[in-house]
Order: sequence, then structure tokens, then C-alpha cells
Amino acid sequence: MRFGSSVVLLATAGVAVAQSVNISSLLQYADALLSANCTSTLESLVSNSTLATCLHVTDLAPILTSNSSIIPYTDKWLADVCYTAPCTNATLTQAATTIISGCAADLTKYNITNATIYDVVGQYPLAREVACLKTTKPFNATNVTAPATPYNTTNGTFCATSILTELQSYLGANLSLPYIATAALGGNATVVQLIEKIPTKALCSDCIFAAVDLIEEQYPGLGNISLGAINGTNTTLNQFLTGTCNATYSITKNGTLPSTITESAVNSTFPFNVTAGNVTYHPSNTSSAIPARNSSIAKRDVDITAAKRRWFGRV
Ligand SMILES: *[C@@H]1O[C@H](CO)[C@@H](O)[C@H](O)[C@H]1NC(C)=O
Ligand SMILES: *[C@@H]1O[C@H](CO)[C@@H](O)[C@H](O)[C@H]1NC(C)=O
Ligand SMILES: *[C@@H]1O[C@H](CO)[C@@H](O)[C@H](O)[C@H]1NC(C)=O
Ligand SMILES: *[C@@H]1O[C@H](CO)[C@@H](O)[C@H](O)[C@H]1NC(C)=O
Ligand SMILES: *[C@@H]1O[C@H](CO)[C@@H](O)[C@H](O)[C@H]1NC(C)=O
Ligand SMILES: *[C@@H]1O[C@H](CO)[C@@H](O)[C@H](O)[C@H]1NC(C)=O
Ligand SMILES: *[C@@H]1O[C@H](CO)[C@@H](O)[C@H](O)[C@H]1NC(C)=O
Ligand SMILES: *[C@@H]1O[C@H](CO)[C@@H](O)[C@H](O)[C@H]1NC(C)=O
Ligand SMILES: *[C@@H]1O[C@H](CO)[C@@H](O)[C@H](O)[C@H]1NC(C)=O
Ligand SMILES: *[C@@H]1O[C@H](CO)[C@@H](O)[C@H](O)[C@H]1NC(C)=O
Ligand SMILES: *[C@@H]1O[C@H](CO)[C@@H](O)[C@H](O)[C@H]1NC(C)=O
Ligand SMILES: *[C@@H]1O[C@H](CO)[C@@H](O)[C@H](O)[C@H]1NC(C)=O
Repeated sequence: MRFGSSVVLLATAGVAVAQSVNISSLLQYADALLSANCTSTLESLVSNSTLATCLHVTDLAPILTSNSSIIPYTDKWLADVCYTAPCTNATLTQAATTIISGCAADLTKYNITNATIYDVVGQYPLAREVACLKTTKPFNATNVTAPATPYNTTNGTFCATSILTELQSYLGANLSLPYIATAALGGNATVVQLIEKIPTKALCSDCIFAAVDLIEEQYPGLGNISLGAINGTNTTLNQFLTGTCNATYSITKNGTLPSTITESAVNSTFPFNVTAGNVTYHPSNTSSAIPARNSSIAKRDVDITAAKRRWFGRV
């Protein structure tokens, strides 16, 4: 079964649990999809491993038992992830081999190759670089209440914090885990309607363009992905973004970020130049994504159709 069909299955089953979503029912559902061997491998990986340590997983644990907004927890987590040493290549490679051996039967069952696991783990340097973007112009509105403990604002506010705050403002509700789970499983029609009402212009932020810049620096082909006919014209992702935003920001693809953006990832392992404000960061000699073994996605460009097939099944 491909990822696409498993999403459909998850959504279908999800509607049943959605009325009374709780986390243990979700975990039980994950258990049903994965073998016991694989579940215990993943559990030990997130609870007791060098990977868990460098990913600061314990910062996120309170989210599982909390009914309040996830934002204060994710903000603290980002500060730890960004301002302390990144995961090393050895740790990432070890994590990949652990999954490949502990989940061997599951990977075969879902037709996922070993190379794909290396590919996914190899996205870590890019993922951290994007997660550690900060903005000096965070979202604010009269209906945004200040957090009990202030967010980290050294050289800006985390982009993720700003975007999640904006989403909270549109939804008029705290993004708690039960709320997110219910909404994701389609169990709250009001949320779906509110999300549909969010103006496309919400994409026109320094943070979104900075994230797209970094992602397209690694995968330049992504901007040419066709979104199909929009207003009667076949439109690519980049045409859509620049058109919608009336060229407020440009997609540079060379790591030159909007002037209100700062990058907080210490000892970054992102393998490309990044320019934020008047600082240009150059890749260091430890900065290269862990090489995927004989796979295509780790190359600087990406075959969009193959990538879409890999993630969404039929395209
Ligand atoms: C954590 O992992 C180490 C090494 O893999 C192992 O020796 C130890 O027993 C584990 N601790 C727990 C609490 O599972
Ligand atoms: C994937 O890794 C497993 C465990 O190391 C190994 O048994 C299997 O042969 C590998 N599959 C491929 C296609 O290399
Ligand atoms: C179960 O996991 C162990 C390593 O944790 C691995 O050696 C073994 O092959 C796995 N068995 C299956 C059926 O995946
Ligand atoms: C597994 O994936 C390969 C390559 O994408 C494909 O050719 C093959 O048909 C797939 N097998 C199943 C059972 O889905
Ligand atoms: C956000 O806006 C409110 C109301 O306009 C204001 O009181 C508050 O100081 C602003 N917060 C920041 C961080 O600018
Ligand atoms: C943000 O986090 C860094 C690293 O932990 C810390 O040095 C700094 O004081 C924090 N800033 C604020 C405003 O909390
Ligand atoms: C904040 O930005 C300044 C100027 O770019 C830099 O020297 C300083 O190290 C940054 N502080 C942190 C905590 O990243
Ligand atoms: C909060 O304010 C923003 C910006 O003014 C607005 O777009 C949004 O609809 C408001 N949310 C609620 C729930 O009123
Ligand atoms: C559904 O979403 C609305 C709007 O955000 C919220 O007020 C309501 O509490 C949610 N209901 C549940 C069951 O989460
Ligand atoms: C599509 O047309 C509508 C109405 O003219 C316009 O508001 C919208 O911005 C257009 N969308 C794009 C992506 O050009
Ligand atoms: C839209 O553009 C893409 C990429 O340029 C192309 O592959 C696709 O066939 C086009 N679709 C239509 C309906 O013209
Ligand atoms: C990461 O580790 C793998 C496997 O040990 C090795 O092949 C690769 O060269 C290493 N990459 C870097 C950047 O050190």
C-alpha cells in the first residue's frame, strides 16, 4: 500500500475516532499499521537514543498530555534545536540503519526502499535550516494574546511561532494537540470552513518566502512544479507565489533571504550559502547532507514526478 492510500484509510478511520479524539486512540491506530518490532524500534529511537537527544524530543513530550496551545512548547523546542549542536552525520546514519533493520518487514510491506529511509533522514540539514528561520516582523494582531512566558526573541521570533500564531488568530482557537488531531481528521467542520477562508495572501510573508528560498536552493526544480490551471492559465508553484504576492518578495533560489529574516541554526550543516541581512553563511566542511545510497532525491535537483509518486502514490 502506498502513502496515498494509507492517508485515505487514515482519514476514513479517523472520522470514526474524530468525535472523541484522544492521543491513545491515535497511537493504537499507529500500532495497527506497524509491526510490534517496528513500533518498539521507533519507540526506543524517540525515547532513548543519540537522535532523541540532538532532536530534543523531550521538549515536545508535554504536548501529548496538554490541552493548551502547542506554540510555547514548539518555541522552546526550536530554541534548543537551533542554539545547540546539530545532530551529527554518524547519529543520523545510525538512526537510518536502526529503522531499516527494526522495520524491515514493514518497509517491504509498504514498498519503501532502504534508500528512501536514507533520503528522508538526509533532509535533516535542510529541515533544521528552515525550522531555525526567524523574523524581525512576526505576525501580530489585536486578537493575539501575549504568551504567559515570552517567546524567544533573540534576533527575531521563530518563523514557525509567527506562522502558528497567525493560524491561531484565523481559527480563533488554541492549537492544542487534540484540536489539531480533530481538525486533521476532518472531525470539525467549522475548522475546515475557517481554513478555507484564510486568504491566499497569507502566503505572502517573509517567512514563507525564506523557507521556499532554502528549499529551492537545494531542489531548484520544485518551483517549476505545475499546480494545474489557475484562472485559466497553467501555473507553476513559483508563478503562483510571485503572482499572488505581487512581487512583494522574490524567490531567489540562492539562499538570499528577505531583509527581515535571520537564521539561528548554530553550526549549520546545510550544504549551501545562506545570506540573511548582511551576513552570509558559507557551508563548513561538515556541511553536506548525508549521501543517500544510490537514490535520486539526494541530488541537488529532484525529479518531481518521481517524488510525487513516492509520496502520493499515483499522480
Ligand atoms: C537506553 O539505550 C542504551 C543503549 O542502547 C541501553 O543500554 C539502555 O538500557 C537504554 N535505557 C532504557 C531506559 O531503555
Ligand atoms: C535493506 O536493508 C535490510 C536490512 O539491512 C536488508 O536485509 C535488505 O536486503 C536491504 N534491502 C535492499 C533492497 O538493499
Ligand atoms: C526486528 O528488529 C531487529 C532489530 O531490532 C532486527 O534484527 C529484526 O530483523 C527485526 N525483525 C523483523 C521481522 O523486522
Ligand atoms: C514497488 O515500487 C516499485 C518502484 O516504485 C514499483 O515498480 C512496484 O510495482 C511496487 N510494488 C508494489 C507491490 O506496489
Ligand atoms: C501586538 O499588538 C498588540 C495590540 O495591537 C500590542 O499591544 C502588542 O504590544 C503587540 N505585540 C508585539 C510583540 O508587537
Ligand atoms: C533565546 O535562546 C537563546 C539560546 O537558548 C538564549 O541565549 C537567549 O537568551 C534566548 N532569548 C530569549 C529572549 O529568551
Ligand atoms: C544575533 O545576531 C548578531 C548579528 O548577526 C550575531 O552576532 C549574534 O551572534 C546573534 N545572536 C544569536 C544568539 O544568535
Ligand atoms: C483576528 O484578527 C485577524 C487580523 O485582524 C483577523 O483576520 C481574524 O479573522 C481575527 N480572528 C478572529 C477569530 O476574530
Ligand atoms: C471546532 O472548531 C471551532 C473553531 O475553531 C472551535 O470553537 C470548537 O471548539 C472546535 N470543536 C472541537 C470539538 O474541537
Ligand atoms: C485569480 O483571479 C482572481 C479574480 O480576478 C484574483 O483575485 C486572483 O488573485 C487570481 N489568482 C491568481 C493566482 O492570479
Ligand atoms: C502545465 O505545465 C507543466 C510544466 O510546464 C506541464 O508538464 C503540463 O503538461 C502542463 N499542463 C497543461 C494542462 O498544459
Ligand atoms: C556520513 O556518513 C556516511 C556513512 O558513514 C558517509 O558515507 C558519508 O561520507 C558521511 N558524510 C559526511 C558529510 O561526513
